[in-house]
Amino acid sequence: MTPRYAQRMAKVQPSAIGELLALGADPSIISFGGGYPDATLFPATQLDAVFHEVLRQPGGAAMQYAPSNGLPRLRDQIAGLMTADGVPCTADDVLILQGSQQGLDFAARMLIDPGDVIVTEDPTFLGALIAFQPSQPDYAVVPVDAEGMRTDILAATLAANPRARMIYTVPDFQNPTGVTLSLARRKELIALANRHDLIVLEDTPYRHIRFAGESLPTLKSLDTEGRVIHLGSFSKVLVPGLRIGWAVASPDLLARMGLLKVAADTQTSTLNMAAASLFLDRYDLAAHIVTLRQAYARKKEAMLDAIRQYLPQDITATDPEGGLFTWLTFDEGFDATAFMRDVALPKARVAYVPGESFFPLTPRPNHARLNYSAPSEAMIRTGIAALGHALHAHRSLR
Ligand SMILES: Cc1ncc(COP(=O)(O)O)c(C=O)c1O
Repeated sequence: MTPRYAQRMAKVQPSAIGELLALGADPSIISFGGGYPDATLFPATQLDAVFHEVLRQPGGAAMQYAPSNGLPRLRDQIAGLMTADGVPCTADDVLILQGSQQGLDFAARMLIDPGDVIVTEDPTFLGALIAFQPSQPDYAVVPVDAEGMRTDILAATLAANPRARMIYTVPDFQNPTGVTLSLARRKELIALANRHDLIVLEDTPYRHIRFAGESLPTLKSLDTEGRVIHLGSFSKVLVPGLRIGWAVASPDLLARMGLLKVAADTQTSTLNMAAASLFLDRYDLAAHIVTLRQAYARKKEAMLDAIRQYLPQDITATDPEGGLFTWLTFDEGFDATAFMRDVALPKARVAYVPGESFFPLTPRPNHARLNYSAPSEAMIRTGIAALGHALHAHRSLR
């Protein structure tokens, strides 16, 4: 039979980029494609110990159902982390999610009717667009420069979009560009959200992976009207396989997200919540994050050095102060998707994410996102050299 799908499925479609990236999974290809942390840095021994221990808790507690908003002890620990980061809160203000990705889905489902407008950075995180799509939003986009979202342009965008309901932003080391929203623009963004009565969805998985510069206040810490939904995640600082993220928001918003949590999956895995909680009790997450910062800082330098050495000089790369990605800008007219399909994958044996999929409205083909956290420094050099060679050869043919 041919199922008659609901209208919300109209834009829930596999992307051509996804199919292209699947080719990058070939082990003989050096992939700068995924947003994966370095698996060699996973605290596997410690996780082994905490899983062993939680499985032996009295009454099989870690194997039982748990409160749908999350284990109280873990919510309390996350509230402690948030308080230390300038967002004073208690366990009651924290909702545990199945990764921060679930918070993107819930925020859209809770706030967006078909045709309502979500305002995003341009480019923005592809996974957020995937999460928002079933809620059938329209988009309004705001360009990004070295200081993040152009809030001067945001003002006009909001004025022109009376159906705007939510501003989605990744303020720290944005995915895909790596740029960070400046303090002045953080304040401006909050002031504009207040003026236009909008929700701000602040997505911060990379926030603590900072190599340089001073940490900037979260949007949530600047929020005086309870309109920021802050999303955090253990994916990049602990392991993504635990699938533990969280939301911190005003009581009403959080309670409604909690209702969607019950509807979606009842609760996040008790076992994983218990293991994460015991990990935080037994081990020093902050020290682990220092190790990650040092390793990723070295890898970022290795990638930027290789880019300077091997890529044609007019191709620019962002120099992020943290996070996992740099963003390449090629000359106008260059098609990074076609180049990946025809040259980078089959000839250079290198994968990246072509930039076009990160633009909600008007794809711009002359960009690529490169990840430096997953490959080794040696693979970074080899892969960028191969990419550079292929780009030079491609140019000499034009
Ligand atoms: C900006 C951004 N938000 C959310 C996520 C989802 O992360 P999680 O593993 O916490 O669901 C990612 C993952 O790469 C991301 O880059």
